[in-house]
This record gives sequence, C-alpha cells and structure tokens, in this order.
Amino acid sequence: MTHFTAEQRAAIEQRDGPLLLSANAGSGKTSVLVERLVAAVLEDGIPPAQLLAITFTEKAAGELRSRVRARLAELGERVAAREIERAQISTIHGFCSGVLRAHAVAAGLDPAFTVLPGSATRELRARAFDDALAELLSEPADGALDLVAAWGPDRLRDAVEEVHEALRSQGQTEPRLPPCRPPRTVQEALAGLRAPTDLFTEELRGGRAGVKTVDAAREALSACHELLAAPGTPAREALDALRIARGAKELKTDACGAWVAAVEALGTALDDEEAAADHALLDTLLGAFARAYAAGKRALSGVDYDDLQLLVRDLLRDRPEVRAGYADRFSRVMVDEFQDTNALQLELIGFLDTGRTFLVGDELQSIYGFRHADVTLFRRQRAAHHARGEAAVLATNWRSHPELLETINGAWGEVVHAGYVPLVAGRTAEEETAAPRTELLLTSTAWDAPGLDARLADELGAGMPSGVKASKLAEARAVARRVRTLVDAGECREEEAVVLVRAASDLHVFARALEREGFATLAGGGRGYWLRQPVQDLTSYLGALINPRDERALFGTLASPLCGLSSDGLAHVAAAAREHGDAWRAVRSVALARRLGGADAAALEAFLIRFGLERTTAARYGLDELIERAVVRSGYDLHVLRLPGGRRRLANVHKLERLAAAYEEDHGRDVRGFIDHAQAEAEADVREADAPVELSGAPAIRLMTIHAAKGLEFGVV
Ligand SMILES: Nc1ncnc2c1ncn2[C@@H]1O[C@H](COP(=O)(O)OP(=O)(O)OP(=O)(O)O)[C@@H](O)[C@H]1O
Ligand SMILES: [Mg+2]
Repeated sequence: MTHFTAEQRAAIEQRDGPLLLSANAGSGKTSVLVERLVAAVLEDGIPPAQLLAITFTEKAAGELRSRVRARLAELGERVAAREIERAQISTIHGFCSGVLRAHAVAAGLDPAFTVLPGSATRELRARAFDDALAELLSEPADGALDLVAAWGPDRLRDAVEEVHEALRSQGQTEPRLPPCRPPRTVQEALAGLRAPTDLFTEELRGGRAGVKTVDAAREALSACHELLAAPGTPAREALDALRIARGAKELKTDACGAWVAAVEALGTALDDEEAAADHALLDTLLGAFARAYAAGKRALSGVDYDDLQLLVRDLLRDRPEVRAGYADRFSRVMVDEFQDTNALQLELIGFLDTGRTFLVGDELQSIYGFRHADVTLFRRQRAAHHARGEAAVLATNWRSHPELLETINGAWGEVVHAGYVPLVAGRTAEEETAAPRTELLLTSTAWDAPGLDARLADELGAGMPSGVKASKLAEARAVARRVRTLVDAGECREEEAVVLVRAASDLHVFARALEREGFATLAGGGRGYWLRQPVQDLTSYLGALINPRDERALFGTLASPLCGLSSDGLAHVAAAAREHGDAWRAVRSVALARRLGGADAAALEAFLIRFGLERTTAARYGLDELIERAVVRSGYDLHVLRLPGGRRRLANVHKLERLAAAYEEDHGRDVRGFIDHAQAEAEADVREADAPVELSGAPAIRLMTIHAAKGLEFGVV
C-alpha cells in the first residue's frame, strides 16, 4: 500500500469543508481523491450511493472505481468494496445523461432521447448551416451577399460553428454574438478631422516648395479639404489619397502628427461602421443556424454533448426540487482534472456543491482550448479557495524516476521560465542503473531538402504513407526500432509502451512504422477511421475516377497499391506533369512510359487499362461496387492482407464499402458528395484525436496524442 506523505495526509483529512488541491503531475492528486472516497465511506459513514466523482475519461472512471474497491478490500472491508458499485463515478457527460434519463420530461426531452454521435451531429450542423445561409440570402439584407462572397461559405461555416460551440460551452442555450463595441461614429471622426486639417494646412504654408514629400502632403491636404466639404460618408478608398510619407522636417511636427492620427481615426470609424453591419448579419446567421440545428436534433429526439450539460444546468437552476434532490443525494462531490473545466461545467458543478466539494487540478496540464476548457477559471477558483484557506498543494512527484524528472525540469524550465514549478522526485535514484532513463533520438530536418527526400523516403518508406517528410519518416522508424529492441530484450511488454505524438496527423506515420517492426498498434480508441490509409487510398481513387484532372486524387491513387508506383516513379510523373502542365495527360504520355523503370512502367500500364475501363462503365455501378471492383481488380485486398494486422485492415476496406452503400441510400449516387463527406470526417478526426482515449488491455503498442494521455501511466514513453 501507499504510504502517504504528510502533505497528502493533510489533503485527505481535510474533508469537513471545501478543498481545492492544486499540484504537479504525478504528485498523487488522484491517489488522494481515491483515499478521500475510501475515508468518506469508512470514517465518515457516508453510504457509497452518496458519493459523486467526476473524471476526465471513462477509462479514468473505471480505474478510480477499481482503485477504491481494491483499497477497501485491502482494508478487509468486503461489504464496502461491493457497495462501492453504487457510487456515481463517471465523466461529466455520463453524469448528465444519467440525470436526464431520470428527468427527461422535466427537461423537455422525449424520454426515449438518444445522445447523438459526433458523425450525426456534424451532418446535422452542415445541413443547418446550409439552411441558415439560404435563409440569409433569400431576402438579402444590405451587404449579405458581399459578406458571403468575402468569407466564402466554407470559412463562414467554420466560423459560425466554432462561435456557436464556444458560446454554448459558456452556458448560452441560444447563442447570440456579444454586442460589438460602440463605434466612434464616422460623423464624429469627420468632425474631429477638421481642426487638425486647418492647423496643418496653415503650418505647411511656410514649408519649402519643390520638396517631393512636402508637395505630396500639400496634395493630400487639398484632397482632405475636398473630402470634408463633400456631403455624406466618404468611401474607404478616399482615404488612400490622404496617406503621406513623413520624411521631410516639415512633416515631423506635432500638427502633422495630429492630422495623421485624425485620418487614421476616420479610417477606424469607417471600418467599425462596416463591421457593425457585418456583425448584425453574422448574428442573424448564427441565430438561424442555432435554430435549424436545434430543430434537426429535435426531429431525431437527439441531444449532443453540450445539450447534456446545458439541459442539466437548466434543470438544476430552474427546478429547486430537483436541485434539492441531488444536493440530498450527493453529500460528497469530487472533480479530478479540474483544470479542464469550461464555464458551463463550472456552473453545473456549482449547483451540486453542498460545501464539501473537492477539486483537483494542475494548471500546467490544461489542454489549451479543448472543448473550450478555460484554465483561467481554475486559476480564479484556486485564488478564491486560497483566500479562504481552502487550498492545498502537493510538491513531490511519485510517478517517475528522478533522472526523468531532471530531464523534464531541464527542458521545461527553459521554455516556461517564471512560473515553472520544478518537479521534485519522491522516488530515490536507484544506484548504478544499467541503462539511462531518458534517451534522445535525433533526426535532421536537413533531410527534408528537395532531392534528398525522394531517395530517403524510398529507403525508409516502402509502404509508408506518401507525402510525409523524410525527417518524420526517420523519426518514426527510429522510435519503432527502439521499441522493438526494448521488447525483444524483455525490458518492456508491448502493452506497457506508449508512443506520444504532438499532432494527430502524425499518428498514421508512427502506426505504419511500428507495424513494419511487426507490432500491432492501438490508436485513439477506434477514432481516426477516416484517416486510415485504405480509406484515404480509396477515396483518392474515387476522386480520380470522376475527375482524373484532380491532381491530388490522381497522385494519391498512383502512390497507393491501387497502382503501386515507387517514389522514383512518382517523381518522374511529377516532372512530366510540370512539362505538360497537366498530370493526367502526362500519365498517359509515351515519353513518360520510356522514362519509367520496368516495374513502374508495367504497374502504370496495367493501372491505366483498368482505370480506363472503369471510367467508361463507372456510371453503371453503385458507390460500394466501384470500391469493391477497384479493390479486387488491383489486388489491393491481397496487398492489405499481407501487411501486419492485415485482416483488421481488410475489415476497414469492407467497412468503407458498407459506409458508401449507406451513403448512397441516404443521398443518392453522389460520388463527389461521398468524397467530401469522407474528407470532412477525416478533418474532424484530426480535430477530435485529442479527446480522451479508451484502451483495452490487448498486447499492442499504444499510440496517442500527448493530450489524450492525461493522467495515465505507462512503463515506457
Ligand atoms: N506517497 C506516495 N508514495 C509512493 N507512491 C505514490 C505516493 N503517492 C502517489 N504515488 C504513486 O504515484 C503515481 C502517481 O499518482 P497519481 O496518479 O495519483 O498522481 P496525479 O497527481 O493524479 O497524476 P496526474 O497529474 O497525471 O493526474 C501513482 O503510481 C501512485 O500510486
Ligand atoms: Mg491524476
């Protein structure tokens, strides 16, 4: 069992009131939380059903539960260990959906409501935006068309969706834009320009003649007088004639400076006026989007993640009897990873607070912007708790070896400077460790230079995803090989190792490299389907099929096993495409065929024959049939089966066929639509890959973004 330190003990004992524990990574925050749950049951006599613990992931919730159970069993409390099942230990979403199940009608929901998966809500949002945009443009207000043309529908959609989500996570059920700052009116700015213009004009009368910049200033001033004399609002472009260069001594005076500032103020006022009009239009669009999205969900009796929290917040706020019920029910509330809380969640937790809430967090582990978590909320709470003597800290890290902490402190102290609290090792250094605890594997971005990359990528990369930098391929290979030697030497088991990457878009590169070393990999809890190579290959193929002049799709197809060109061959194609100015023409040119090596030439010829035939008959087949024909005729299925984890990969190919068939059923035979859908899903996968991961115990190398690894422990990182 753990021997708690005095600091930890104090944080466990202080249960008769609120407490915020703010402490470094691996310092035992979660361990303290576990012990407080145990002590609540054994020492305070709280029935387990009255305990509520909120964690960041389902996995963490499961771990928490089993740690509490094990601790109770260790203390010989068999009944309590069984009873602990009745405690509510879950994510905040899990907690909210439980509350809504119990109070669906009061919350205004269909009792049979479903929590919609991300793919469904994305689809609904896309449709809602289309409707909202159509509504905005059906009786266009002044400037609506200009606004849409200036932004483009895609950027406008991203902005509206982003703002909608951000405002909802702050607690707004029907989001509206905050009012924009009251602009200084154009008329005020014009009035403010008169006096400086006269003053500067007067002053410049005594200036030299024949000096270029001074003469230009005189011209600008006369344009300014004209502008001031003209009725109405000046055009933004009219200010261009008022810009001057201030090189000459006559133009370095206060009068000149004041005039330039007044012209700038007029520019700002004109911008603000324009922005105010856009602001109103954007607010209208946001409102229409929010309504359409809400209606779409209602039609499906569905709610999204934010709804879960908004509805529960409303319920607790507006129904005193429900709030009182939960306050009665939960006499102890505990929140782990509190630094990742957003304003809405904080409000919600506030309604459950009965004066003994225990909050745990680490500012340095906050995920910037994840689900609109806001670390300033944590800081404010910490300050308030501190002022009331309700805050505690833990200094010592118990998780990692001292050598490792030294490395981390060295690196982070440099980056974070002030405010970095060094991790202090609780474990003692073991004498004479055989191997170093931290290792640095180096690659060079110099390898990414043009020319080098093709050769290196070829050597490193047979079977690697195309379009990846050589240094990245080398990095992935170095890591994969190191893991291989560790596992072979018996220094770690596969399931003890994790590879953390900065960006989700790197996951597939490392997955491929590990698989080449013969490992199975477990990434992102089943997310990222649309980023997988077969899915990318086959959607590229469909894109090329309907439009072979789509270069991205064409190159993706040629590089994939559907054609199977080597990177040398691709380099030839790229060069020929530059000469012809058209990749599709280049691919079919005799000149290229002569330049290609034997294997590449044969692969390309066979591909072009199959591809040509498919193009003539494509219209006859369904989406899924198109994919299936491509897979079977190119031998793609056999290729995939030969790779490590081949059956799983092939299952992904078949899954794509099923998804394509389902898409066709819903949307008709719209190949372009399906490709766009796949691309949108892939982008969403990249965005969502920072979400917490659920991992099973299978022997495989774990692979996740740094963010997703929060609060987890691994033997080799
Ligand atoms: N007093 C102690 N003595 C020895 N080991 C300890 C002690 N306290 C905690 N540990 C161990 O240190 C590790 C980290 O503990 P824990 O997960 O509770 O830290 P944490 O602060 O919650 O970490 P994170 O910041 O990642 O959430 C665990 O393996 C735990 O068993
Ligand atoms: Mg923890």
